[in-house]
Amino acid sequence: MANPIKKVCCIGAGYVGGPSMTVMADRSPEIEFNVVDKNLKRIESWNSLDLNNLPIYEPGLMKLIKKCRNKNLYFSNEIEKNIALADMIFISVNTPTKTTGLGAGQAIDLKWIESCARQIAMHAKGHTIVVEKSTLPVKTAQTIKSILDSYIKKDFGDNNKNSKTFSILSNPEFLAEGTAIEDLLKPDRILIGGDDNNAIEVLKNIYLKWVNEQKILTTDIWSSELSKLIANAFLAQRISSINSISALCESTEANISDVAKAVGMDSRIGKYFLKSGPGFGGSCFKKDILNLVYICNYYGLFEVANYWEKVITINSWQQNRIVSIIVNKLYGTISGKKIAILGFAFKANTNDTRESPAINICRKLLEEGCILNIYDPKVSIEQIDNDLKNEDLSNLNELNNEKKWQVSSSIIDAVRKTDALIILTDWNEFYNLDLEEINNLMRPPGWIFDTRNIINIKQANKYGLNIWKIGNGNLM
Ligand code: UDX
Ligand code: ADP
Repeated sequence: MANPIKKVCCIGAGYVGGPSMTVMADRSPEIEFNVVDKNLKRIESWNSLDLNNLPIYEPGLMKLIKKCRNKNLYFSNEIEKNIALADMIFISVNTPTKTTGLGAGQAIDLKWIESCARQIAMHAKGHTIVVEKSTLPVKTAQTIKSILDSYIKKDFGDNNKNSKTFSILSNPEFLAEGTAIEDLLKPDRILIGGDDNNAIEVLKNIYLKWVNEQKILTTDIWSSELSKLIANAFLAQRISSINSISALCESTEANISDVAKAVGMDSRIGKYFLKSGPGFGGSCFKKDILNLVYICNYYGLFEVANYWEKVITINSWQQNRIVSIIVNKLYGTISGKKIAILGFAFKANTNDTRESPAINICRKLLEEGCILNIYDPKVSIEQIDNDLKNEDLSNLNELNNEKKWQVSSSIIDAVRKTDALIILTDWNEFYNLDLEEINNLMRPPGWIFDTRNIINIKQANKYGLNIWKIGNGNLM
């Protein structure tokens, strides 16, 4: 069957919408993809001639943008026009946790989804397949459907001449940042939920261009929405499990990497997502678990809610525990001391800092009165300043007008005259630090706090550096 889709619109040009439409455009040259966003600055960055200025950093993205942009892939803020022209619309907008009102701190704020649904309802023409791509609470499709239906009735009543119709599908995106292009090109599975078999077939046909049919799973819409939430919850749970054991290893002189390896070699457990670190960050894990907790409480499943909530408790505890260790090792006070921070993104190979453990850890260190030199290869100064600033934390120390944190342009710059260096993100370039030079630049006794388990202890000791490594009880 020829695919009836000629034009696709994606609302939301973020970390999900941008890369996923780029890969689809690359694999379906006969379809026109219009990625729209209300944030004009973001659209201008996507259209930037200098590909280094793309709004997000993802390995492999630049190459595909160069190939498809302005051929069958367009970025614009012409939202209404592109909704009207589209046969299929992906909703890929942000879905943060509510900060006020009912469900604050747990439920997902659906205001962006709702506003999208209203825009679609008003401007779509003919039959349109609406696809949820953002991670959403279970039954969001029902909300979208009810908004779309209400507009159909209001605008057109029984006048069939102008009638518009919609099919709603859930097609959650499982890409991880930093490996987005690879994940999109070689997905473990594609999940499509819905009750309109024709619409499912049409979307399936787009994926069949590069994904094996066995990997395309179709379900009802609620199972699809729930599966995405649960996949993220399971992944986050593994990280909290291994992080809880990292503390036990430190107390018992065991080594977390060896324990993780031995445990992960059991094929029933598997080796992935067993790296202990400063806790998980990113836009999804915390938000999705909070949402799961909210849903369970809503349905009276309080034990289930408490069980999952502990995954987040351990995650925050891990970060606070690291801060206490740092302060204790530096003679119980870091007031006035300079500390280098290596890595601010929530993981390597992305410029995203949403929920990055670095934010919480840096804030707590600043509250203790130290001065931070922060280096990250991809995160901008503006982003770091935005993340650290709040009402209690201005960048200037009022007493002596010295900056409380500054952003350094290299590892060496960051390390100069510091008492400690803390590795918070596992960027490749941190694996081969010149420890001799670092020791020479630091104020003795120099300390390295390695929250990603990447420094060779013997090498650090050889150059006279003190070292603390996560989950390592046998440091000498
Ligand atoms: C996650 C899911 O992996 C992805 O499927 C979903 O679509 C979105 O959420 P992402 O948040 O981009 O992706 O990155 P991920 O690789 O899952 O890492 C999340 C966090 O966990 C990072 O802070 C990372 O450093 C941490 N992590 C990951 C660990 O601490 N240890 C691990 O073993 C793996
Ligand atoms: P994600 O990681 O889920 O992709 P992002 O925050 O990176 O989330 O991207 C979501 C994008 O959606 C943002 O650029 C935001 O401006 C855009 N957006 C949100 N609501 C709308 C809307 N109603 N119309 C157009 N764009 C929207």
